[in-house]
Amino acid sequence: MNVAGQSAIVTGGASGMGAETARALAAAGARVTVMDVNKEALDGVAKDIGGLAVECDVSSSDSAQAAVAAAKNAHGAARILVNCAGIAPAKRIVGRDGPMPLEDFKKVIDVNLIGSFNVLRLVAADLYAEEPLDDVGERGVIVNTASVAAYEGQVGQAAYTASKGGLVALTIQAARDLSGKGIRVVTIAPGFIATPMLLGMPEDVQESLAQQAPFPKRFGRPDEYAKLVLHIIDNQMINGEVIRLDGGARMQPR
Ligand SMILES: NC(=O)c1ccc[n+]([C@@H]2O[C@H](COP(=O)([O-])OP(=O)(O)OC[C@H]3O[C@@H](n4cnc5c(N)ncnc54)[C@H](O)[C@@H]3O)[C@@H](O)[C@H]2O)c1
Repeated sequence: MNVAGQSAIVTGGASGMGAETARALAAAGARVTVMDVNKEALDGVAKDIGGLAVECDVSSSDSAQAAVAAAKNAHGAARILVNCAGIAPAKRIVGRDGPMPLEDFKKVIDVNLIGSFNVLRLVAADLYAEEPLDDVGERGVIVNTASVAAYEGQVGQAAYTASKGGLVALTIQAARDLSGKGIRVVTIAPGFIATPMLLGMPEDVQESLAQQAPFPKRFGRPDEYAKLVLHIIDNQMINGEVIRLDGGARMQPR
């Protein structure tokens, strides 16, 4: 799909990979709506790129419905959705205070897995009513963001790993489910990417994480994620697949 002129939604667009992807999409000529719970940072990104900022909690049906409708009003039905909103609190299954509170587990599943599905279903439903963009019948592209933790979750990542594993499993299923309307679904599984989510960790932890990749021995950059998103949108043969973006890193248990 040619990005220029298309309506695009990026969730988690206030920070990190989402913000960088919103910038890249806007630079390529898309009309971008960024959605996030962090309204202040969101407004800054939207202003920078001449896009629309819509405050949205992706885990809420009402909030996402209103946000997707606002994006559609401003830019037309989104042909591109990039789901970047996510949280990564660490907690062991059994900690010093006993079993992990079930609410803590549910919260991560709610934002990362259900939140991504929530926006995906709404954008896909709008696309069903749109005309295809080409004679092959392509109507849209949806990119989700899992994590290499979906495959090798570290100690303390039970909820995060389960949420991202759900997105990995959903990828081929959703691609099949939406294929009749020419909507592709692709997931990126990043390794360690230098964003506020990772840069909040102690420096020695960061250093040891960066050394886990065979090559290059550094964190990935948000622009490397954004570049992959643009390629996925452009390359129609990529569908129903999860692509690791990790410099060959395989996460260690801790
Ligand atoms: N940084 C990494 O190393 C890394 C690795 C693998 C996967 N990921 C995943 O990539 C995605 C982007 O992460 P990032 O590193 O850019 O993190 P980030 O913290 O910079 O950005 C995440 C954004 O999501 C927003 N958000 C959180 N809960 C939300 C909700 N309920 N509704 C809407 N927005 C919400 C946050 O406000 C934030 O702006 C996440 O899904 C994360 O799990 C990150």
